[in-house]
Amino acid sequence: MVPLISSIFLHFIFIFAVVVNGEQDSIYEILKAHGLPMGLLPKGITQFEYDDTGRFEVHLDQACNAKFESELRYDRNVSGTLSYGEIGALSGISAQELFLWFPVKGIRVDVPSSGLIYFDVGVVFKQFSLSLFETPRDCIAVRECAGLCQGHTEAVLSVAFSPDGRHLASGAGDTTVRLWDLNTQTPMFTCTGHKNWVLSIAWSPDGKHLVGGSKSGELQCWDPHTGKPTGNPLNGHKKWNTGISREPVHLNAPRGRFVSASKDGDARIWNDSLKKCVICLSGHTLALTCVKWGGDGVIYTGSQDCTIKVWETSQGKLIRELKGHGHWVNPLALSTEYVLRTGAFDHTGKEYSTSEEMKKVALERYNKMKGNAPERLVSGSDDFTMFLQEPSVSKRHKVRMTGHQQVFAVDSSPVGERVASGGKDRVLKLWMG
Ligand SMILES: *[C@@H]1O[C@H](CO)[C@@H](O)[C@H](O)[C@H]1NC(C)=O
Ligand SMILES: *[C@@H]1O[C@H](CO)[C@@H](O)[C@H](O)[C@H]1NC(C)=O
Repeated sequence: MVPLISSIFLHFIFIFAVVVNGEQDSIYEILKAHGLPMGLLPKGITQFEYDDTGRFEVHLDQACNAKFESELRYDRNVSGTLSYGEIGALSGISAQELFLWFPVKGIRVDVPSSGLIYFDVGVVFKQFSLSLFETPRDCIAVRECAGLCQGHTEAVLSVAFSPDGRHLASGAGDTTVRLWDLNTQTPMFTCTGHKNWVLSIAWSPDGKHLVGGSKSGELQCWDPHTGKPTGNPLNGHKKWNTGISREPVHLNAPRGRFVSASKDGDARIWNDSLKKCVICLSGHTLALTCVKWGGDGVIYTGSQDCTIKVWETSQGKLIRELKGHGHWVNPLALSTEYVLRTGAFDHTGKEYSTSEEMKKVALERYNKMKGNAPERLVSGSDDFTMFLQEPSVSKRHKVRMTGHQQVFAVDSSPVGERVASGGKDRVLKLWMG
């Protein structure tokens, strides 16, 4: 659900007289005269310019953060174009989501007022209560970040930690993949080559390969040590990418395969060395929303057709269909996901010289985590429920969890006994296994 800028503004004619002579209004007064709350700009403005086209530029002593419901960051210079109830072409304000900062590109309020204010952060609008912005806030100076905070020029759409936890890869609306060094908090590489928004990104469990998937459907492999593409774009999907999952390292080292899911309804298995699609998993009747390569060697796909399908991966045969959700299946999470993602790497930072050794350690970690229980899968749905199931044992769900509005995100904890979920109701829930 992405509320778009209402065309109401196009019909709304507002004539704003700029006082050229005499006392100039403060920038806060100018915001107010445009039906916008004064608190959109913080205290500490040293100077501003404003012309009769609505273009304004505001200067602050220093870059600073102001706390609202979440934090906003103001650069030293903030500029934009004012029209009634709206600021467009905004630059110099970022909003925080988790630990990432998204540039705010526009702000608008409803006319007449609904009591809400909307921040355009690229692909979605963040929505706040208007009353938060009644008065200008104190703004606390920030140490200019070494780089981690800044870089992408459009919203960040995907992030993934490297299996050893030393690097972070991010994919964004600006079509780039960026690699960051988490120790020094500095950017390492900007990878350009994707044709559209980078919606998914996945590391190989040995940390040596990276693959991104975009809104135009193509996949691109990257060398995370140089930031360079490895091979040409992988084409096959006809619609946008909705997920990528790697074959676990304990099943296939050094260079396993990976699977990609698409809105076109198919999942595709790719051979990383050949850079070729080796199997196409077709059968879902609507878009895929999620894909996971499980530790027992099967692939799980979730779809808008309300089902989850389980596939074997030597020939791509459908082996099980999990029904029960009454609406789109959104996220999937495995109880073993943490060990699958990190392979042989643990908190000790131990490095491995051979892939055989890596495979052996990864298998030990996987078995230890799984114990005697079957691998568990959690699915979240637009039907407001989550299912906990053991697909290798039964087609029916074991536990049904309710209480959310649409469920958009689930993940299991590193020890596998807790599940975190988030939904449209903006509530994050923790469940004990
Ligand atoms: C901010 O604006 C001032 C005055 O226009 C300009 O001299 C300065 O370079 C700008 N600073 C940045 C970081 O853009
Ligand atoms: C990828 O293809 C090559 C060449 O056919 C083969 O040797 C290799 O085993 C394949 N990789 C996987 C993970 O199946």
